[in-house]
Amino acid sequence: MSAVPGPYVMLSENHGSVRPPPYRRNVPRYEHRKSGRSWCYRFICCFYCFLFLLIILLAGFAFFFYIVYKPQAPTYKVEGLEIKAFQAQLADFSINTEFVVSVKADNPNNAIGVIYGHDSSVVVLYKETTFCSGKLPAFYQGHKNTTVMKLDLKGKSEFGSGLQEALTQNQNSGRVPILVKVKAPVTVVLFQIPLRKIVVYVNCSLVLDSLSPNKKPGIVSTKYDIRVSL
Ligand SMILES: *[C@@H]1O[C@H](CO)[C@@H](O)[C@H](O)[C@H]1NC(C)=O
Ligand SMILES: *[C@@H]1O[C@H](CO)[C@@H](O)[C@H](O)[C@H]1NC(C)=O
Repeated sequence: MSAVPGPYVMLSENHGSVRPPPYRRNVPRYEHRKSGRSWCYRFICCFYCFLFLLIILLAGFAFFFYIVYKPQAPTYKVEGLEIKAFQAQLADFSINTEFVVSVKADNPNNAIGVIYGHDSSVVVLYKETTFCSGKLPAFYQGHKNTTVMKLDLKGKSEFGSGLQEALTQNQNSGRVPILVKVKAPVTVVLFQIPLRKIVVYVNCSLVLDSLSPNKKPGIVSTKYDIRVSL
C-alpha cells in the first residue's frame, strides 16, 4: 500500500509542481491557437473579398445601367385647362366649379416604368380658397410612353365679396394666378420589378389670362415646385 503513492510524491518533489514539462505544455497549445487564428483570418479575409467584389459588381452594374439605359426623370406638363362650370350662387355666396386639366406625362425611359397609385389628390386653389379637387388616374405607365391625363376636378366653395373683387381685378389685368397642388403616390418599376413606393408632391403655379365660364383660358406662365418623400 505504501508503494503506490510513492511515485507521485517523487514527481512533485522533482519538479516542484504538477504542471507538465515545458515542451509538453507549449507545443500543443501553440498549434491549437495558430489554427484557430488562421481560420478566423481566413473568414475575415473571405468576407472582405466578397464585400469588395460585391461593391465592384454593383458599381459596374450601376455604370452599365447608366450608360446603356440613360435613366431620366419623367416629365409632366399642364397642357390645357377647360372650364366646364364656374357659376357664382348669389344666394349663399358660393361658387360651383368644374375644371378639366390636361397633363402630359412623358416617361422617356427604356427600362423604367411608373405605377400611379390610387390615393392621389389634385386640388385647385385661388388665393388659398379651394375651388375644386379630384384625383389622378391610377395606372401603369410603361417604357417610352407619353400619356395625356385628363383630370376632372369638381367643387363647391365659399366665394365672398373680397374674393370676387380680387378675381375681377385679376381678370381685368389678364393675369389670374391659380395653384394646382398634386400629391401622387408612385412606384418606380425597374425591369418589371416594382421598387419602393414614393410620394411626389407638386405645386404648379399657373397664371391664366382669364377665368370665366364658356371661355378657354390661355396659360400665361407655369412654375413647378416638386418635392419627393421616401
Ligand atoms: C401609354 O400607356 C397607356 C397606359 O398604359 C396606354 O393606354 C397607351 O396606349 C400607351 N401609349 C403608347 C404609345 O404605347
Ligand atoms: C406647396 O405649397 C404649400 C402651401 O400652399 C406648401 O406648404 C408646400 O410645402 C408646397 N410644396 C412644395 C412641393 O413646394
